[in-house]
Amino acid sequence: MNILVLNGSPKGDNSVTMTYIKHLEIVFPEHRFQIRNIAQAIHRLEKDDGKFDALMNEVRECEVVLWAFPLYFMLVHANYKRFIELIFERNQEAVFSGKYAASLSTSIHFYDHTAHNYIRGISEDLRMNFVESFSAEMQDLMVPSERQNLRVFMENIVDACQKQVVTTRVFPKLSQPVLNYQPATPQKLTELGKLSLVIVTDSGSMSDNLKNMLERFRSSFTKTPEVVDLTTIKIAGGCLGCMKCGMDNECTYDGKDDVRTTYEEKLKKADIVVFALTMKDRYFSARWKNFLDRRFYKTHQPGLPGKQIGYLISGPLSYEQNLRQILAAQAETDQANLVDIITDELTTSTDLDQAISNFSEKLMRYATIKVKKPKTFLGVGAAKIFRDEMWGDLRLIFQADYRYYKKHGMMDFPQSKFSTRLMHLFVPFLRLGPVKKQVQDKTKDMMHRSQDLVNKQEQEKRKK
Ligand SMILES: Cc1cc2nc3c(=O)[nH]c(=O)nc-3n(C[C@H](O)[C@H](O)[C@H](O)COP(=O)(O)O)c2cc1C
Repeated sequence: MNILVLNGSPKGDNSVTMTYIKHLEIVFPEHRFQIRNIAQAIHRLEKDDGKFDALMNEVRECEVVLWAFPLYFMLVHANYKRFIELIFERNQEAVFSGKYAASLSTSIHFYDHTAHNYIRGISEDLRMNFVESFSAEMQDLMVPSERQNLRVFMENIVDACQKQVVTTRVFPKLSQPVLNYQPATPQKLTELGKLSLVIVTDSGSMSDNLKNMLERFRSSFTKTPEVVDLTTIKIAGGCLGCMKCGMDNECTYDGKDDVRTTYEEKLKKADIVVFALTMKDRYFSARWKNFLDRRFYKTHQPGLPGKQIGYLISGPLSYEQNLRQILAAQAETDQANLVDIITDELTTSTDLDQAISNFSEKLMRYATIKVKKPKTFLGVGAAKIFRDEMWGDLRLIFQADYRYYKKHGMMDFPQSKFSTRLMHLFVPFLRLGPVKKQVQDKTKDMMHRSQDLVNKQEQEKRKK
């Protein structure tokens, strides 16, 4: 079988993900694996029509397309994202239509599912027959049972293609908003006082609705907020995955472009950061993704701690819950407070005017009292993964993260808590006959004893 591997690693052949493909090549000598380094060669693919057309011919001729990529900020690398954009911009959907497809990634399992959801959604938009995803942890290839899983994955793909099995659609088709937004002039302006607000946008991929949303939003304050336009700042290139950042947060691009200074001088100095973005396929533009990937100079450290953040989005976000989850998860891992997400999926311009005005006020109010909503599973789970990795295997490379986590109390393992350890000393006694019965009878009360105490104290405080 002729399998075309679209490699999403910016490192090309020198990639962890490709070791998994190499393994498949060894185990399945009867199949032909053609590897194309998409993320590494994106500039040539974009500039040289001959190269792009040759690749499209290879897609035409193959039987299976295997999307093979490393995780980059809950998705794929910006260059891989750009390749997906090129497919649609150059009307190449028909080339992919009807092909069998599958996805394979390597990562530390940090929002790997959102990247696979994205790739599956794109494959379905291209009318491919998507068979299944395989998300390997970087080190899995060393484990015999995981190698067995990988083999089964490949066998399933081959089997599905040979038998031409019918695949089911998982993600709904995107339905673009119908509103043609015509904003009115705001009646009441929001006073920011000493608070600073910065808006990040990408004018190169901005819809008319977003242009108007941005205008309305900016004019709803007494002082017009600053805009950082990713189309005009200098971005010298995409993240290379070189890991130079690991030890001391240095970046290969330091001094060569505006990415670090934009984060440090604009975003990190603001109280409120609003991202104004237009959806492009099932995400935002590759330019935006590039800006995000490049934030990895700060490796696994929270990117916007203590900020109030929000989104103005033009596009069918309600059809793309995967992206909504990415935004919520990114905010929580950044230790920022996600105030709201306003989209143009409303029926009238008046409604959108009102939504934007409420948004402006809410941002100001939340920033004034420094709101920090409790994290959900998205942030709590994520923090535990990073904490364990930075303490464990990744400490060697990401020494700056280890120092940061220690300094900011993020190495919060439960076994380090003295009170927890003390409590555990009693565990064996709780199983003794009469004690066990008493504990079982009182469990419900015990579960909220401390909370009751807090409420009692609050009541007494208010009586005084
Ligand atoms: C900028 C950047 C962002 C990353 N984002 C994620 C992520 O969101 N989730 C994750 O599990 N791993 C993430 N990783 C880790 C890589 O996905 C992982 O190391 C992968 O195995 C690298 O594969 P490669 O050598 O084929 O490029 C990231 C790495 C880099 C450099």
